[in-house]
Amino acid sequence: MSGMTTDNSTTHEPLSSVYWGGDHLVLLDQRLLPEEIVYLKLYTPEEVWEGIHSMKVRGAPAIGIAAAFGTVLGGLRYEGSDAGGWLEQVVKTSEYLATSRPTAVNLFWALDRMKLAAAKLAADGLDISGLNAAFLAEAEAIRAEDEDVCRRIGENALPFFKDGMGILTHCNAGGLATAKYGTALAPMYLAHEQGMKIKVFADETRPVLQGARLTAFELQQAGIDVTLLADNMAAMVMSKGWVQAVIVGTDRVAANGDVANKIGTYGVAVLAKAHGIPFYVACPLSTIDLETPTGADIPIEERPAEEITEGFGKRTAPQGVKVYNPAFDVTPHEYVTAIITEKGVVQAPYHENLKKLFE
Ligand code: MRU
Repeated sequence: MSGMTTDNSTTHEPLSSVYWGGDHLVLLDQRLLPEEIVYLKLYTPEEVWEGIHSMKVRGAPAIGIAAAFGTVLGGLRYEGSDAGGWLEQVVKTSEYLATSRPTAVNLFWALDRMKLAAAKLAADGLDISGLNAAFLAEAEAIRAEDEDVCRRIGENALPFFKDGMGILTHCNAGGLATAKYGTALAPMYLAHEQGMKIKVFADETRPVLQGARLTAFELQQAGIDVTLLADNMAAMVMSKGWVQAVIVGTDRVAANGDVANKIGTYGVAVLAKAHGIPFYVACPLSTIDLETPTGADIPIEERPAEEITEGFGKRTAPQGVKVYNPAFDVTPHEYVTAIITEKGVVQAPYHENLKKLFE
């Protein structure tokens, strides 16, 4: 793996977090933001697995895109000349990448799509270089479609925004978490493009601080009014009447409309309900998992204790203390005002209405 550093402090162009570099995957190392902008060149599926696992790339759609390119790297590694052997190699790579993180269903969605594409291509009589080229085109399509899907999510969410509104978000569901625009942040970018004034409150999002390091960073770079809050300040800010809407992304929506998102989201949803503030969830269809009946069936990742005990580089807890560090929580569907997708806005009853999106 090798790295390159970019300085965009003067350009303020949105940063691309994941893209193909010709014969390798390029990942923006999101762990180093906002202090350093470092792009990594990844040449092997093992490097992609590690990049996803260690959260160099994070955010449900971006993880899916990275994994899709990871399977391409697996195919490129095949040294034989037989399409069946190539397919076997690609399927193995895909199964391996599926073990990198458990909660965001976009990872499995992207890997399933790549496996399906590989099986079709392998039956087409192409030689190995033709297979690899067509397989890369599928991963590129996933990335390009995500950009388009995010923009459409933004268009569908924009009618919920009004000039002068205060909007609270949790974690990072922005351009850094997707190919471009983000999900929850997409309507903020579109509002800004149209000259609408909004005031965004970004929860810092302990313990990994995606809100502080990523959301505050990307909104500030775009010139959007953003105020950073420690997580325990959301109630105070809502009680002052400064927030008229909450909008978040999600890692997986269950068939009944329960929503898994970054730890702390459930608390924000409860607070929103207590203050009569609508709670919106923005996501692509690839995040909706009708195979998972309820939020209780969503696998929740637990991460290392060090994220809490020494997350800021300095130890902030006693040695040997017991730690519980779930990376996500589940917001029950009754707290969700609407789920905003590229295909339209879904409201309760979620069980029926989510299904209709796929008809
Ligand atoms: O652990 P992370 O940083 O990958 O978690 C990300 C989130 O929870 C995002 O809110 C979610 O993936 C939506 S991204 C458009």
